[in-house]
Amino acid sequence: MILEALDYAASVPLTPAAFRPHIASSVSLSARARRCKTAWAEHEAHSQAQVLETMKTMRERRTAVVLGSGLLRDVPIRALSTAFDTVVLVDLVHLSSVRLWLAAKGLRNTRLIHRDLSGFDEAIAGQTAEPLAFLRQVPYLDLVVSANILSQIGVGCRRRLEREGQADRAADIVPALIAAHLEGLGALPCRTCLITDISYHVTDRQGKVLEEDDLLAGVAVPAHRTSWDWPVIPFGEGTGDYQAVHRVIAG
Ligand SMILES: C[S@@+](CC[C@H](N)C(=O)[O-])C[C@H]1O[C@@H](n2cnc3c(N)ncnc32)[C@H](O)[C@@H]1O
Repeated sequence: MILEALDYAASVPLTPAAFRPHIASSVSLSARARRCKTAWAEHEAHSQAQVLETMKTMRERRTAVVLGSGLLRDVPIRALSTAFDTVVLVDLVHLSSVRLWLAAKGLRNTRLIHRDLSGFDEAIAGQTAEPLAFLRQVPYLDLVVSANILSQIGVGCRRRLEREGQADRAADIVPALIAAHLEGLGALPCRTCLITDISYHVTDRQGKVLEEDDLLAGVAVPAHRTSWDWPVIPFGEGTGDYQAVHRVIAG
């Protein structure tokens, strides 16, 4: 609790004002990740392995960009930093604890960028969102990793629409933004590695399914080379006697 409060306080001056409202959710993700360390270990290892697998087949390794880099738990940041000239980490927030860790490990070729990768502002204004268009300006781009961010774009957009009293627009905007991320990745002239959860189910201890849903808002699941389960809320973590397991794909 004290560590989290310190992390929050130290992150505020390091974060531009527009992104400060996201610090709290990043701190709470970090706390949950610590509590669920064992349950999440396999998912994090699978995610990292998929990035390493993609890197293995690459000859040019100049700039790598990680979308949704967050806490750097499911990203093999040391291997990326060793293999590439520059690694650009893009997220709404990079906590002070993450920055401190990068500095302590001497990963000096990492660059941290605050950016909303959703395309929400364009979509709400009725424009066609191109949330990954900025990647065209990145010099010597050889790899883009989308690191467990795609479903969160949908979740974040729904919340914003509800806050702004426009929840009725979610059925159009959320799938459009999820599709825009996938199209943006697909249009890049470099290697990509997409890791995302695509659906979830909530079960009780008897295995009865209490709830299940798609996390891509009806957008077709993209081609992928592998998939696995991620117990995002293992038994004992949530408020009730249930677990929430997400299906993750990578490719
Ligand atoms: C499930 S976490 C993945 C964490 C990260 N890949 C890691 O290794 O720890 C989702 C991440 O996506 C980020 N995120 C969610 N919506 C975003 C948005 N619209 N733009 C940029 N980042 C976003 C969150 O801040 C969070 O760090």
